[in-house]
Amino acid sequence: MSALEKKRRAAAAALRRLEENTPIGVGTGSTVNCFIDALAAHPVRVRAVASSEATSARLAAAGIAVIDLNEVSELTLYVDGADQATRRRHLIKGGGGALTREKIVAEAAREFVCILDDTKVVDTLGSFPLPIEVIPMARNLVARRLARFGGRAVWRQGCVTDNGNHILDVHGLAIADPPTLESALNQIPGVVTVGLFAERPADVLLVGTDQGVVEI
Ligand code: 5RP
Repeated sequence: MSALEKKRRAAAAALRRLEENTPIGVGTGSTVNCFIDALAAHPVRVRAVASSEATSARLAAAGIAVIDLNEVSELTLYVDGADQATRRRHLIKGGGGALTREKIVAEAAREFVCILDDTKVVDTLGSFPLPIEVIPMARNLVARRLARFGGRAVWRQGCVTDNGNHILDVHGLAIADPPTLESALNQIPGVVTVGLFAERPADVLLVGTDQGVVEI
């Protein structure tokens, strides 16, 4: 079975967690696009806060009401993908560059459901380069500070985030203690968002496999 088919399976499983007419958050990426397509065909109506301009456009095109996060106090559910995940539900996110708004929307959600295919579940995070959104003027400074953590930061050239910032992809980190590293990297001036989602991990992983969907 292809990775896309596994993503579709995971996305379809997330539909069961929807509650009628409640505000939800919707993440960014190809797995989330499967979720949006399935949501458009689903009878339960929801309003959605988007984690990126791309998702906002896709939701609107699918006829799903897009709302501003400032209009609601809590989201019942946040559905998003990930680049890597552990069984403790710590994540690396930001491969699509939307990590800052994704982290904001995840924080606002009662339940964060992460949908992914089984190739992304790992014992230790870090073989996927860790995305970090930075203020453009601080890019090289942050890259030098990241070297102290053993990481080699590569500027994702040509990528400007929805917030007008740059992305560094950090190679060579073996992330043994995700919450502690997330907290430490957040202290570097110029860092906007670290693509580790560990201090606020996912609540549930829905993992698409050849055999079906595994819930962690
Ligand atoms: C975007 C993300 C995505 O969730 C992550 O990159 C996974 O993407 P895909 O579903 O396309 O594999 O964090 O910033």
